[in-house]
Amino acid sequence: MPTLGFEIIGTGHYVPGRPVTNDDLSRVMDTNDEWIFKRSGIKQRHYAPEGVGVSDLAVEASRRAIAAAGIRPVDIDYIVFATMTPDYIFPGPGGLLAHKLGLEGVPALDIRQQCAAMLFGLQVVSGLIQTGAARTILFVGAEAHAGFMPWDDWDALDPANGREASPEAKARANKHRALAVLFGDGAGALVFRATDRDAGLRAVKLHTDGGAAKFLYVEGGGFRTRPYWKHTDYDEQKYIPTMDGRELFKFAVTKLPECARALCAETGTSIESIDWFLAHQANARINEYVREHLGVPPEKLPSNIERFGNTSAGTLPILIDEQTRAGKLKRGQLCMLLALGAGVHWGCALLRL
Ligand code: ACO
Repeated sequence: MPTLGFEIIGTGHYVPGRPVTNDDLSRVMDTNDEWIFKRSGIKQRHYAPEGVGVSDLAVEASRRAIAAAGIRPVDIDYIVFATMTPDYIFPGPGGLLAHKLGLEGVPALDIRQQCAAMLFGLQVVSGLIQTGAARTILFVGAEAHAGFMPWDDWDALDPANGREASPEAKARANKHRALAVLFGDGAGALVFRATDRDAGLRAVKLHTDGGAAKFLYVEGGGFRTRPYWKHTDYDEQKYIPTMDGRELFKFAVTKLPECARALCAETGTSIESIDWFLAHQANARINEYVREHLGVPPEKLPSNIERFGNTSAGTLPILIDEQTRAGKLKRGQLCMLLALGAGVHWGCALLRL
């Protein structure tokens, strides 16, 4: 059990550009609002514009979190940055964010646990605070998935431009439509600070199954080939993730309730005693299933997937920011966080606010 706790003293989020609706997506792929909403609960999402990377999205979210915390950037003594869509293959965006915030010399750790990143990040934050390595930590989860969307004609997406993608372009994009409709871009930032108060990570349970990595991965670009990026990767659309949506769905609805129950049993925590269930937003149907399986009332499991889609590592920090600003999350409450993402990494955590 942690001896030195931590609290979240500031939160912020940022999403780029205009909301892109399901109808807008039907301009570049054969899809429709009814299919997308029924299968996923998503109505709209945002995309980072060309030239804008996760470090840029993260700056905006971080400034908001730092302002909400009432601290100065120089008070931050550690950065943990989670993304699966970095600005560059290397280095990771943590250092770029530190530089953009004027925090030269502050250590920045990049983690890549995809949609489960916040859970792994919480364990890192807790460890850094307990060992005295850091006192005030900026955690950011941010994604710019736009770079792997299966259409090239971004102007056709906007009805204001008055034209749709060609049938050939739509046919090319259609192969990835089940994946493409799910993801959106954005950043969430949380400022964690050490406290003597009885707050912080109560317990965490993490898992990884590399054998299931094939359910969601990017085949193109990787250092097992020479060069690590090939012309054919573009032609064969290998820069777009390959996803077995059904297998991931089954994985999520089996592993997440199992994990939650095991953590409750190990810690002697009843489901009823938990104030909030903050779940990653990959698909509203997954969360609905998990909620019903655990016997959690709907009002205890907030959802924002309708407006943002799946923002991978950005999701939980964005959700926490929204719930905090809405006055829902309050000091002393007990939250369970749940997430599963590519890797496959998954887990759950009990957090005392
Ligand atoms: N619009 C219209 N029709 C579509 C679309 C679309 N966007 N996508 C697929 N379809 C069609 C298919 O072609 C198929 O048609 P057919 O029956 O004529 O062949 C039909 O709809 C069913 O397709 P499936 O892919 O089998 O649809 P499914 O019911 O499995 O739903 C979905 C797909 C929504 C992707 C679901 O499997 C899912 O949400 N899985 C979980 C994915 C997930 O969580 N991913 C993120 C992981 S987290 C991370 O770390 C990034």
